[in-house]
Amino acid sequence: MKLVKYLSRLGYGSRREIEAMMADERVCDRAGQPFAERDTPAHDDIHIDGEALDPAPGLVLMLHKPVGYVCSTKDAGRLVYDLLPRRFRLRDPLVSPVGRLDRDTSGLLLFTDDGQLLHRITSPKRHLPKVYEVELASDLRGDEADTFASGTLMLESETRALAPAELEVLTPRRARIVLIEGRYHQVRRMFAAVGNHVLSLHRCRIGMLELAELSAGSWRYLDDQEIASLSQ
Ligand code: URA
Repeated sequence: MKLVKYLSRLGYGSRREIEAMMADERVCDRAGQPFAERDTPAHDDIHIDGEALDPAPGLVLMLHKPVGYVCSTKDAGRLVYDLLPRRFRLRDPLVSPVGRLDRDTSGLLLFTDDGQLLHRITSPKRHLPKVYEVELASDLRGDEADTFASGTLMLESETRALAPAELEVLTPRRARIVLIEGRYHQVRRMFAAVGNHVLSLHRCRIGMLELAELSAGSWRYLDDQEIASLSQ
């Protein structure tokens, strides 16, 4: 692939803008020499204005999504993309959220430009656990864990029962729930189905991955081991 096209697909600008950056000798190797060849060299050799490039295609990152941000590229209001470098919205393939969190849900949200990995993570066949902390409007009755574990709970307007989900009661109005699928507003609708109402919802884990020290609104790349853990 030509270098201009490669950089354009990484979101560094239109082809014309990148031609101009190259003419201004802003696209150089690690020793600061502008590239004479038009073919793409090794990704790690390319520097723009002295800075290494963003990761090559196949990147995965985690964001600590705050409440109030929407998982979309173009809705009105605050978007999860506003919390990431602008270039990530311009990459081809796009850096997309892996599944969705509602605007009013906080927590761990993965992004990747790798379509196959995205599919592997979201597929219910993988049984990758997603763990949520829930705060409820009313005290738990005591039978919710059995109902959620039964594999027979049917959500309103759906025709297929939910897969069994594990509920750990922390206090009468706080619980942790582990899902292996990701249906629309699933946790909120599950508690609605047992006569309760979710006041706040936070995803704290996907598979082995946790937010740990990552503060709300911050993000970081996953390392190779973390990426591999999502496919195991
Ligand atoms: N379940 C929900 O209801 N909302 C989310 O954002 C995620 C799971």
